[in-house]
Amino acid sequence: MPAQVPAQAEVPAQVRVRVPAKVNVQLAVGAARPDGFHDLANVFLAVGLYDEITVTPADALRVTCAGPDAAQVPLDTTNLAARAALALAERHGIDPAVHIHIDKDIPVAGGMAGGSADGAGALLACDTLWGLGSSQDELLAICAELGSDVPFSLIGGAALGTGRGEHLTPLDVGGGFHWVFAVADGGLSTPTVFREFDRLTEGTDVPLPAADPALLAALRTGDPVALAATLGGSNGLQPAALSLRPSLADTLAAGTAAGALAALVSGSGPTTAFLAKDADTAAAVAEALTASGTCRTARVATAPAPGATVVS
Ligand code: C5P
Repeated sequence: MPAQVPAQAEVPAQVRVRVPAKVNVQLAVGAARPDGFHDLANVFLAVGLYDEITVTPADALRVTCAGPDAAQVPLDTTNLAARAALALAERHGIDPAVHIHIDKDIPVAGGMAGGSADGAGALLACDTLWGLGSSQDELLAICAELGSDVPFSLIGGAALGTGRGEHLTPLDVGGGFHWVFAVADGGLSTPTVFREFDRLTEGTDVPLPAADPALLAALRTGDPVALAATLGGSNGLQPAALSLRPSLADTLAAGTAAGALAALVSGSGPTTAFLAKDADTAAAVAEALTASGTCRTARVATAPAPGATVVS
């Protein structure tokens, strides 16, 4: 009789998770709170640019990263992927000895939640590797501790984030949207952009952030022209990002001249986002942006994209 296979044999040798970038189609920013964060009405849309996180059992926690921007990614415990593994292991009283490898395709420090994506991806990957079977609510609670945008990276699709962005209400999206992302040289630090927002709004009455009903309706219908009509001024951080990086105005103008329906800074920037009416226009806008010399590179992507997903 063959020996009984131990339960451990069912634990996978390696788990790979794919996790998307995001664009904020609306980012209404309130005044700074006593804790320094800002209340938001944050309409997240996951877009089809992905990082892949692979976790493998190891002697100790270790992070590696590959991709064009890998040199800019911290490999210590400031990396959200490492922090996710540590938080999950601590909660379950297990040893976080795992090698986390990040195949990075999302622009680094670009306002597309690349770091948050890696946190959410590593959390799902470790949960699967360690056979913990946590519920989505349990994972979302850890995500919220890791950062304001991390819960959305886990669920993907489209959602309204309130509070500091971590309280999510999923949103219906009626169709696929075609986007172009212009990747700038160098990143922008999110806290620096929020501080610039505080400086620019000092002494003014900052309204309470609220989702724009017309924007939510346009998402529901899937009509890019209707969505574009709501995107002017929808990113409350855009004036701060432009103040810190005035050259982004040239990128926005180049994309608009090339036929984009709308142009905006993605989150805290410096990536800029362009909504196109169809795939052909998106390809033409990307080509024109690259040729304009106003960005490092331009990428096309469709939205919405699924959240963190185990792929092997
Ligand atoms: O939550 P997360 O760590 O991603 O936030 C990074 C920084 O962005 C915070 O330290 C804070 O300066 C700023 N932030 C904010 N209000 C938010 C989210 C982020 O001021 N709602």
